[in-house]
Amino acid sequence: MKPKEILVFGATGNIGRNLIRKLTKNNYKVVAVTRNIHQKGLKLKTQANPGYLELVELESLNEEKIKYLLKGCSICVNLIGILFEKNRDQFIKIHSTFPNILSKIAKEKKIDQFIHVSALGVENALDSKYAKSKLMGEINVRKNFKNSLILKPSIVYGIDDNFTTNFMSLLSKLPIMPLYYNGRTKFVPIHVSDLTEIIYQIIAREIKNETIQCVGPEEISFKEILMKILKSIRKRRLLIPMPLPVAKITAAFLGILPKPLLTLDQLLLLKYDNIPSKKYKTNFDLGLNANKKFEEEIEKYSYNWRSGGQYTRNNSQEIS
Ligand SMILES: NC(=O)c1ccc[n+]([C@@H]2O[C@H](COP(=O)([O-])OP(=O)(O)OC[C@H]3O[C@@H](n4cnc5c(N)ncnc54)[C@H](OP(=O)(O)O)[C@@H]3O)[C@@H](O)[C@H]2O)c1
Repeated sequence: MKPKEILVFGATGNIGRNLIRKLTKNNYKVVAVTRNIHQKGLKLKTQANPGYLELVELESLNEEKIKYLLKGCSICVNLIGILFEKNRDQFIKIHSTFPNILSKIAKEKKIDQFIHVSALGVENALDSKYAKSKLMGEINVRKNFKNSLILKPSIVYGIDDNFTTNFMSLLSKLPIMPLYYNGRTKFVPIHVSDLTEIIYQIIAREIKNETIQCVGPEEISFKEILMKILKSIRKRRLLIPMPLPVAKITAAFLGILPKPLLTLDQLLLLKYDNIPSKKYKTNFDLGLNANKKFEEEIEKYSYNWRSGGQYTRNNSQEIS
């Protein structure tokens, strides 16, 4: 039987790379879209069985090209997202306008399933531009493609993420670490392989017309996350609550960097717990379990940030 074709936008990201591996291993053919095939192509190609992955470069999200790509596909997954803006209104363009255009074309082309990945808790954090733009994207998608599947994950982590690995690097180098809002903000981290299993099950079982909050098995505060990372990299550091006015000044400065560690908008987001609301079902409500535990999983890849590890100052692997 001819494998079903799945068009994936944002395929080169952390979730996208893992999803391609899961889908192609299970005999789905993936068409992966990127803005830069030369930079990202090699990494993507190693994720899939030969013949199951096609790479497409789209310089800009051009409507005519999207129409052409969607013609041959039965399923479309949108994983495009950003954490900070480089230009004015970039959040709106990427999180609201693009899903609006894509879901309209998906409806017009009568594809079987449209899966859009948004974020958990954005409906509460409406003073954040990121959250507002994500929520608008959800509204647009639901309006245009009634049967779409909207996923709202909490923090997604795994061996090649930008979250735990960044904190491992910072905590292994800095003597102190600031805590925003006293580190009390709560999260329900989900391992990337649990999330991609959920997306795979949604596709395989043809689940439609749901908004699902995707969460892992444990609710953990930001301070607990840092403490678990410290334990895993075998380091002790001072975790110091940072007064909000000082946090705002640091975020304003850090926000200028090309890849900022913290922006003012992210500081606003951190004010709100990133936990499921009663408004939507969670993956557990639908029998889609996510059982990987944060502490156990990071223990599998944190050794590189321990004393003598590859990413520490006293690197035992250096040639003497
Ligand atoms: N990771 C998390 O903790 C988390 C939590 C909640 C929600 N989410 C959401 O889940 C989705 C995927 O997350 P992720 O962590 O896999 O993201 P990621 O690693 O940052 O990847 C983002 C993807 O978006 C594409 N992209 C970025 N800017 C773009 C632009 N201007 N035009 C076109 N494409 C652009 C990139 O593609 P190219 O560079 O190849 O073009 C990349 O593949 C996002 O919508 C994110 O908001 C993630």
